[in-house]
Amino acid sequence: MPDGSRADQSAIVVGVGARQGVGGALAHRLSREGMHVFIAGRTADRLEALATELRADGGVVTPVVTDTTSEEAVIALFDHVEKNGPPLELVAFNAGNNLWGSLLEMEADFFEDIWRVACFGGFLVGREAARRLVPIGRGSILFTGASASLRGKAQFAAFASAKAGLRMVVQSLAREVGPQGIHVAHVVIDGAVNGEVVRNKVPGIEDRFGSEGMLNVDAIAEAFWQLHLQHRTAWTQELDLRPFKENW
Ligand SMILES: NC(=O)c1ccc[n+]([C@@H]2O[C@H](COP(=O)([O-])OP(=O)(O)OC[C@H]3O[C@@H](n4cnc5c(N)ncnc54)[C@H](OP(=O)(O)O)[C@@H]3O)[C@@H](O)[C@H]2O)c1
Repeated sequence: MPDGSRADQSAIVVGVGARQGVGGALAHRLSREGMHVFIAGRTADRLEALATELRADGGVVTPVVTDTTSEEAVIALFDHVEKNGPPLELVAFNAGNNLWGSLLEMEADFFEDIWRVACFGGFLVGREAARRLVPIGRGSILFTGASASLRGKAQFAAFASAKAGLRMVVQSLAREVGPQGIHVAHVVIDGAVNGEVVRNKVPGIEDRFGSEGMLNVDAIAEAFWQLHLQHRTAWTQELDLRPFKENW
């Protein structure tokens, strides 16, 4: 049940699918604070299902179908929030499409599509968030990274380059708008997330890793929330998260 103390604040989460995912857990965490949470993803049904679940718990949640690779759609999302919600306080960019394949056989379109979602989409969301938050001089813009943000591996040329690119967009943004009071941070998720995406992609993964061998979605969301709460004399720009038994 939300405590309502932040009912005068809006939050946006871009890249939301199932409740058991990083985006869904973030929406849940922010909703618990009483914020008006705008959830953005490409699939109306999934957004509506999550909104219904969070509203049943007293949350104020608005789904906005948005493809983060479209500049027009991202601007429309932020305009919609400005018109229909209380002042913006927190934006999280979580979209990512971890697909892999041999570089030698990789189609150019595949490479570009991965970059459009994970890197270009992050640029668009970061830019719009900064344009809206800089004039008010406060707020957080948080981004989801992955192990691939820090290293390339065989089969991961597209995803690793996109995630590494996103990391540099985030660092650049942090250095540009940090001095204007905006907390920009990147969260490197260094392990498998125990959510719907991985369970669907890799059946039986829980047997291999055990539930504690994967990152718990609500624990990840809590880390995002704690970043947002940090005092501005002691900000984290990059945080890495991994299960205690991850081999890294
Ligand atoms: N899962 C893992 O093991 C893992 C590990 C390390 C890092 N990560 C990172 O964590 C983030 C995702 O977390 P998750 O795996 O738990 O998934 P999730 O948060 O449950 O889902 C992310 C959602 O993003 C949406 N999305 C994809 N492309 C989009 C686009 N162009 N515009 C708007 N929304 C879009 C998808 O929904 P629609 O298709 O309905 O739009 C998807 O459901 C990614 O940044 C990923 O790189 C994941």
